[in-house]
Parts: sequence; C-alpha cells; structure tokens
Amino acid sequence: MRLLLIGAPGAGKGTQAERLAARFGIAHISSGDLLRQHVRDQTSLGQTVKSYVDNGDLVPDGVVMDMLRKPVLAAASGYVLDGFPRTVEQATESYAVVRALGVEVQAAIHLDVPREELVRRLLARGRGSEDAEAVVEHRLQVYLERTVPLLEYYAGREWMFTVDGAQSADAVHEDIVGRIQKLAAFTAST
Ligand code: AP5
Ligand code: MG
Repeated sequence: MRLLLIGAPGAGKGTQAERLAARFGIAHISSGDLLRQHVRDQTSLGQTVKSYVDNGDLVPDGVVMDMLRKPVLAAASGYVLDGFPRTVEQATESYAVVRALGVEVQAAIHLDVPREELVRRLLARGRGSEDAEAVVEHRLQVYLERTVPLLEYYAGREWMFTVDGAQSADAVHEDIVGRIQKLAAFTAST
C-alpha cells in the first residue's frame, strides 16, 4: 500500500503515519524527520538545509526529491509518505518518476485541523527553534501559500480524502483506515 499524508504543521502527520505504517506493515518515510537527522548528523546535506528547517522555509525541491528517491524505491511492501509532496511542483515532478516505476500513490489523506489547535499543539511540543512562536506562524503561512494549492490540485480525485484531524489520535486513525478500506473496495469493483 502506498499512501500520502498532507496537513499543516502540527496536523498529526507523523503521529498518524507511524500508526498506519504499523497497521499495514509499510515504511514510514518522513521528509522532515530525514532532514532533521541530516542536520543532527551534520552531513553536507544537513548543512545545506539547516537554515531552511530552522526558519520554517521549504527546502529546495531538488534536495528533498534526491533524498527521498532511495527510501521510496526501497519500500518494497509500500510506504506512507509524511510531508511530501507539499507543493504542486513536487507532486508533478515526483509523479513522473514514480509512475514510470509503477509505485505511484494509491491514497492521499488530508488531515484537517483548525489553526488554533495547530498552534496549541506546536507550542506545547516545543521542538527547538522550529516550534518558536514566530517560526510556527511562518510555517503556517508557508503551508497556506505553498501546500493549500496542492490540496486544490488534488481536489476531486477519487483517491484523495479529508479527515477531521482535530479528533483524538485514535479516532483519526480509525477514520483513515475506514476510508482506505472503502477506497480499496471501490477500486476492486471498478
Ligand atoms: P515536517 O517535519 O514535515 O514538519 P511540519 O509539516 O511542520 O509538521 P510537524 O512534523 O511539526 O507536525 P505533524 O503534522 O507531523 O504533527 P505531529 O504528529 O508531529 O517538516 C519540517 C521542515 O522540513 C519544514 O519546515 C521544511 O523546512 C522541511 N521540509 C519537510 N518536508 C519538505 C518538503 N517536502 N519540501 C520542502 N521542505 C520540506 O503532531 C504534532 C503535535 O501534536 C505532537 O506533539 C503530537 O503528539 C500532537 N498530536 C498529534 N495528533 C494529535 C491529536 N489527534 N490530538 C492531540 N494532539 C495530537
Ligand atoms: Mg511531522
């Protein structure tokens, strides 16, 4: 199974991706976690991306796509991608690659959470400079400007759906699984 999770900063992408990976036995591939690991390890990629991540700006597309190619292709039993694609450009460019290899996505899940709840969660978590109040505001602005157009681009595709991400993490997980099962039944019948 191959899934995408799309949502604002703090929407619960990481939380839900981890559960979906365990439930379906697929790889959890988080662009943000991989980037932060490179920063911690002070690799040359880490040095290139540190200021973007710390400031809440998007890392250049080419850097993210190069970094993800290997784990996506290695995920033989499937993947849940958390945090990629997050722009229309990333979606269109990566589609060309995965389509040719027959590993394109089967469902895209949008986690919808009100802004006040996103801010509350991120300030409570406090993950370094990324979760400082001004940076949180900036990340939310980047989401509106760069990722909301991606949701509009995917709107109406039968494999894209939105769930209410403001519920408990368990309830969100069950909603997602229910929608995936419905989608699988629909796909099997067509
Ligand atoms: P990334 O790591 O993707 O960060 P983000 O999108 O800002 O989102 P977070 O990871 O902060 O939140 P989340 O949605 O995963 O929520 P979580 O489960 O943690 O990206 C970081 C940076 O890397 C970007 O700013 C950019 O610089 C770069 N980057 C990454 N991908 C890129 C790309 N494709 N292109 C370019 N640059 C890229 O939950 C948040 C908190 O809420 C946690 O404390 C959690 O316990 C809690 N929580 C979760 N669910 C619930 C719930 N249902 N109820 C109550 N609390 C909950
Ligand atoms: Mg995350």
